[in-house]
Formats: sequence, C-alpha cells, structure tokens
Amino acid sequence: MERPELWEWLSKEVMGEKGVVMLIGAPDTGKTTLCHFLISQALRQGIRTAYVDGDIGQSVIGPPTTLGMALLEEPPEDFSHLPWDLLYFIGSSSPARHLLPVAVGLKRLVDKAKEKGAELIVVDTTGLVAGEVGFELKFYKMELLRPQALIALQRQDELEHILKGCRGREGVSLYVLPPSEGVVPRSPERRREYRQRRFEEYFKGGRKVEVDVERTVVIDPAFPLLKLGEDGGRLVGRLLGLNDGQFFTLGLGIWEGIDEGKAYIYTPLEETEAVRFLQLGHITLRRG
Ligand SMILES: Nc1ncnc2c1ncn2[C@@H]1O[C@H](COP(=O)(O)OP(=O)(O)OP(=O)(O)O)[C@@H](O)[C@H]1O
Ligand SMILES: [Mg+2]
Repeated sequence: MERPELWEWLSKEVMGEKGVVMLIGAPDTGKTTLCHFLISQALRQGIRTAYVDGDIGQSVIGPPTTLGMALLEEPPEDFSHLPWDLLYFIGSSSPARHLLPVAVGLKRLVDKAKEKGAELIVVDTTGLVAGEVGFELKFYKMELLRPQALIALQRQDELEHILKGCRGREGVSLYVLPPSEGVVPRSPERRREYRQRRFEEYFKGGRKVEVDVERTVVIDPAFPLLKLGEDGGRLVGRLLGLNDGQFFTLGLGIWEGIDEGKAYIYTPLEETEAVRFLQLGHITLRRG
C-alpha cells in the first residue's frame, strides 16, 4: 500500500481528536484503503477502535446489502474477512433509494460502538456523492453522526456541493485530500463479481430452516401495507434480513416458501431462536 506522508499526519490528527471520523469521496478514491490505514494506526496506539462499514455494495464487513460494525482489538492482517459485532440489513446493494434506512442504520451502529466503549469510530461510506441524492445522503449523514472529523477525498470539485455546508462548522474538523495515486479503479462488472463472491461465501454451508411465522413479524419495506398471503409465492428467492428484537441483523436468508404457519428460509445462520423479524430485501438471489 502506498502511504503518503499526508496519511501519517492525518492519522495523528484523527487519533488526537478521537470520536467519530467519517470518510467521503466519489467511487475509487481510496476511501476504504485510508480507513484501514487509520484503523491500523489507531489500534497500534492502543486506541479502542470501531470500524463501521457504510458501504452496502462493496462491503468489507459482512455480506453486501448490510451495514456492519466491528470493534477491533489489534490491527487485522486481512481486513476482508473481519468478524463483525453487528450488522444492519438494508436489502439493496445501492443506497440511492434507501437513504433513510442507510442513515438510520449507520447511526444505530455508531451509537452501539460508543456504548461498547469505542474511543475512535471510523465510518466508511459508499461512493454515492453526485447530485442531489449524493448531497442528501452525505450531508445529512454528517448531520446525524456529528463526526469530529470529516475526511473528503476529492479529485477536482465533485464534493463541493456537500463540503460547502461542512466548512466552518462548529465541532467538525474538515480534511480535504486528493485521492492516493495508487488507486486501482474497479469496473461495474468487477463490482458485481465482488458482490456475487461475497454472497457465495456468506451462504456457503447454508441450509433450509423453518421459522414459525407466529413467533416472528414479516416486514416488507417495499410494500409495508401488504399482508403476507399463505402462498408467499411472489417472495420466493427474495433476500431476507433475519433480525433480532433490537432490529439488528443476525444473518441473511433467502425466502423459499410458506406453508401452514412455517416460513422456509435458506440461511447459514445456525441459531434462529432469537430471530424476531423477517425483513424482506429488495433483491432476489439464486440459492447455491
Ligand atoms: N494508497 C494506495 N496504495 C495502493 N493501492 C491503493 C491505495 N489506495 C487504494 N488502492 C487500491 O485501489 C482500489 C480502490 O481503493 P479503495 O477500495 O480504497 O477505494 P474506495 O474509494 O473505497 O472505492 P469504492 O468507491 O468502491 O468504495 C483497491 O484495489 C485498493 O487496494
Ligand atoms: Mg470503499
């Protein structure tokens, strides 16, 4: 990894301030790589650090379609398969139509990280920064999370519509950096392949389980008013979040059917006792 001197300096600034650090930038600007660097540096200094992964497409923590949080003890050798502490299911690999769930989910993960004693919380985000949607997502995420430090990786002026509301803000240190030269852009095709591989890895070793629909609540955010018919046929193949009583996500599943009060779900989750909510996602997956 190429580590410009600027990064070293930045990590000291961030470690001095602690609290929440949020990174923003267009796709392929090196956000995730910089997050990993900052996290590793902080852990080397013995700072209790949480990594909050707000990217539901090119996820690092947990499978795609989920936000994730990991509290770390020491610098991981490999960031790609970190055990997570909490997941929050969004159900899509793009935040564009799910701004509120993404913002709320991130807030809940950051709050939990604080509750669990994290001194530094590093929040990675998706590359969706363009236009009104990018503004709404990133600006209001900052409003909600109230980071001590906002790090913006900017090539030209593509973040200015967001940054102009962040400059001069009380309690927020803004750092605007150029993307690192080592960045290797990823094509949409490679991004799709990455998601597919992460899903395959996640569902490996899955099995069909029965969940008593009396004991759980089915939530379909796309059709919240629709009652679940006994056939549930339209749902076959839909990705599901298996959520606990706090609406955190214990695992993902694929809807297989419903019969006599039992929902059949394909999942690698071993223990389904604590599942209280079956949250339907916005995408369909083929099993296996
Ligand atoms: N400083 C660096 N030195 C070497 N390689 C780097 C560096 N920064 C990024 N890369 C490489 O460039 C690619 C993209 O970087 P990264 O995933 O950090 O970008 P990103 O902004 O998080 O992208 P996305 O928008 O997809 O989330 C990765 O393969 C990463 O390993
Ligand atoms: Mg990234």
